[in-house]
Amino acid sequence: MSIQWFPGHMHLTRKAIGERIKDIDVVIELLDARLPASSANPLLAELTGHKPTLKVLNKQDLADPARTPAWLAWYNARPQTSAIALDASDTAPARRLIDACRQLAPNRRGLSRPMRVLICGIPNVGKSTLINTLSAKRQAKTGDEAGITKQEQRIVLDDDFYLWDTPGMLWPRIIVPESGQRLAASGAVGRNAYDEEEVALDLLAYLKQHYAPLLDARYKLALDAADIAARHDDELLELIARKRGAVMSGGRLNLQKAAEIVLTDFRSAALGPITLETVAEFEAWLAAGQLQDKARAERKAEQRKRNERRARNAPRGQ
Ligand code: G4P
Repeated sequence: MSIQWFPGHMHLTRKAIGERIKDIDVVIELLDARLPASSANPLLAELTGHKPTLKVLNKQDLADPARTPAWLAWYNARPQTSAIALDASDTAPARRLIDACRQLAPNRRGLSRPMRVLICGIPNVGKSTLINTLSAKRQAKTGDEAGITKQEQRIVLDDDFYLWDTPGMLWPRIIVPESGQRLAASGAVGRNAYDEEEVALDLLAYLKQHYAPLLDARYKLALDAADIAARHDDELLELIARKRGAVMSGGRLNLQKAAEIVLTDFRSAALGPITLETVAEFEAWLAAGQLQDKARAERKAEQRKRNERRARNAPRGQ
């Protein structure tokens, strides 16, 4: 089952970005370093009028350090775009953010031309944490400009550097099923929109191919990587249930509990640092998703034509 999910406040976010964007020099999109592409909103460029953008891959402490550089390079290769990786343990992220933004808009300097930056991101990506860290040194201010909701915040990072926090959240646009399942695994999707067992099985299907030694170490499976990769996903979940004592009365395995254990271990990085997509994988998923979208649009257009033909050929008065 593919996951479709939109937080209720996305219209608020769209409106807030639309109202603020004309005064903005650089947009920061906060991403999850474990899902560097799936945690992005592909509509953001349209919403922000293609302003220079800084992609911040947050939670890099939870992500696979061997994969993050390729994602930074992927984003850095885009026009008017820079990318940096951060994490909550970074006690002074302000300097790196400021430097990266200044490079994107070098003409904004001094009190008469201050740098104005907008920050946004999907739920749970770490926006509040980052803003709290950034504003620890300086007092966060609430914007009182007309037409802007009360929740908008202006944070002064330097005398000539202002950061605006959008009220509400960006929503991920889930084009490919793989993105939906993995966003759910990361905790970015509302709990009611997915089935934990299904998402845990999807996660295990990926982990057994790419991170089998981490599964073996965490759950003491005593299997080599090839053996883990060869196991069926259901079988792996059952093994984990047994190893973790997720057993109900009568000896039946509690697979729901095992699924919760796997998801919690992934989210907290108890399994180890993991990234759930490579550039090549995401590009392949995207290409397949776009082909499906195109085929769906063509089928709809065909159907519309058929309906029009039928309406034209129907005897009058019917
Ligand atoms: P949001 O505003 O974008 O929705 O996200 P928020 O800052 O609330 O962060 C969501 C969760 O991610 C929080 O954990 C937060 O501590 C954690 N987090 C944020 N940035 C990082 C990071 O760079 N590295 C790691 N490891 N964790 C990060 P929580 O368990 O939901 O809450 P808490 O009890 O930890 O505060």
